Amino acid sequence: MATPSIAFLGTGSYTPTRILSNQEISQLVETSDEWILTRTGIRERRIAAGTETTADMAAAAGKAALESAGLSPGDIDLVILATLTPDLPMPATACLVQQRLGIPSRAACFDVNAACTGFLYALDTAWGMLSSGRYRHALVIGAEKLSTVLDWKDRTTCVLFGDAAGAAVLGPARRESSGLIGTRLGSLPLPADLLWVPGGGSSPANLDDPRVIRMKGKEVFKVAVRAMEDVARDILEQHHVSADQIACVVPHQANLRIIEAIAHYLKLPMDRFYVNVDRYGNTSAASVPLALHEAQQAGRIRPGDLVLLVAFGAGLTYGGALVRW
Ligand code: ACO
Repeated sequence: MATPSIAFLGTGSYTPTRILSNQEISQLVETSDEWILTRTGIRERRIAAGTETTADMAAAAGKAALESAGLSPGDIDLVILATLTPDLPMPATACLVQQRLGIPSRAACFDVNAACTGFLYALDTAWGMLSSGRYRHALVIGAEKLSTVLDWKDRTTCVLFGDAAGAAVLGPARRESSGLIGTRLGSLPLPADLLWVPGGGSSPANLDDPRVIRMKGKEVFKVAVRAMEDVARDILEQHHVSADQIACVVPHQANLRIIEAIAHYLKLPMDRFYVNVDRYGNTSAASVPLALHEAQQAGRIRPGDLVLLVAFGAGLTYGGALVRW
């Protein structure tokens, strides 16, 4: 195992105050608490206020992560923000967060879009840039206002998603042998319409299509389980770690049944997985950092623990990261 030197120094999250229950959604579309709960494990999700933006949520999560790292905005020289719901096509939402937090002008700031795998893509990019020695402290954020890209008349998608932000500060490890051990990213070249927002982009073929999430849920479900299982196995094998050495798996929170299937295939008990999909639904790029922050707050991750992050998303992208906490 290579000696890691870039570590998580702090984590933070932000969730809007407005809770939308399954019961309330069943007044908008023909569904029920029972259907949503048994098929997805979701009980409720958070919905951002009308004026609240992805950048606002990202900045709040970033501020909390800085505080938990014991650093100030002036210490940050890299901001990478993962989102599929940026405030604007340009500038990058990372630049808006920089301004809100007072991060200095020498910081590089940009967004990445790998849908629900976005945080892992951002994390891997930050790790590479920090390991080069040319940057010292990175603020890595996943933030989404998915409520703006939902068709609230489509019961097959609107029940699944929510708004949130999660963040982490990365930098030189403060404890011996803590830090990132390995990452693995990939993308399965499957038809885009498995999971996409057809409208709102520059493609002339899709000019009249709506800017809302459309998904072939059943097909995505199968690919998701396989992709997350495969990436978990790859990473563990590559670093000669067995699944039972992992203290906590922090998976993308799309559906409880997907997480249960991965646990089954990896032969790990569910109590090794951190699950909060019941309270937030699928928050895409925010999902993994939000769950990671909560897992740590809840004492599910302790110094010295091996932690595995896994995700998949539209693309279909997938990714994993192995960390010694
Ligand atoms: N309420 C009630 N009935 C519903 C609802 C609903 N909200 N949604 C669908 N149904 C109906 C369907 O119309 C269907 O009815 P039919 O049999 O009469 O045709 C029936 O329920 C079964 O539908 P399925 O799609 O087969 O249900 P399934 O068990 O596959 O669950 C779900 C659907 C929850 C979407 C599941 O397939 C899933 O979780 N897929 C993966 C989703 C996912 O992980 N997405 C990743 C997004 S990541 C990113 O990058 C944004």
